[in-house]
Amino acid sequence: MTRNTYEIPGQAGKLAVVTGASDGLGLEIATRLASAGAELILPVRNQGKGATAVDRIHAAAPRARVTTADLDLASLESIRALGDRLLSDGRPVDILVNNAGVMTPPARHETQDGFELQFGTNFLGHFALTARIFPLLREASARVTTLSALAARSAHCSGMTCSTRATTPP
Ligand SMILES: NC(=O)c1ccc[n+]([C@@H]2O[C@H](COP(=O)([O-])OP(=O)(O)OC[C@H]3O[C@@H](n4cnc5c(N)ncnc54)[C@H](OP(=O)(O)O)[C@@H]3O)[C@@H](O)[C@H]2O)c1
Repeated sequence: MTRNTYEIPGQAGKLAVVTGASDGLGLEIATRLASAGAELILPVRNQGKGATAVDRIHAAAPRARVTTADLDLASLESIRALGDRLLSDGRPVDILVNNAGVMTPPARHETQDGFELQFGTNFLGHFALTARIFPLLREASARVTTLSALAARSAHCSGMTCSTRATTPP
């Protein structure tokens, strides 16, 4: 087995929620899970891109059951709305992939709630989403996967202060 040939075992009967599946790694993860038989909910902030992603998943897995939902991880209100919708549906969630993210915006931007955009979206947003739907995850003994980056390994922390090698020469 190599990274390229890894086969996902059968996922029939499982419900998977994959964030950031309108593009990039998330779309590939969603496609692979759908091809393995999982039913998918793809929370996206751009429904046009979401529809294109669903078409691409169906091209690879014609019988896939895939729906999109609204989610802007840079808004706690949006996260709450998605969580409430899933809770009201009441379906246990077997797989949650916290994949969506922004990477080093060139200037400071903030989420709707005033957090720095990358921290607020990638970390706080997914933390809030996971916490909100925790009853559904617990009911299914879910697997929750959160994407990170190898860059995190270069961080140095001293007390409450962290920096990376890229910005702080040794
Ligand atoms: N690719 C790499 O080499 C690499 C390396 C290290 C870590 N990662 C991590 O892997 C994950 C995926 O990376 P990628 O390269 O596949 O990224 P990507 O191609 O830029 O895709 C990012 C996805 O996140 C979504 N997204 C961004 N902000 C959002 C928000 N506020 N609410 C909802 N969705 C939002 C985007 O939606 P839109 O389509 O609407 O923009 C898109 O679907 C990220 O967490 C990233 O930090 C990737």
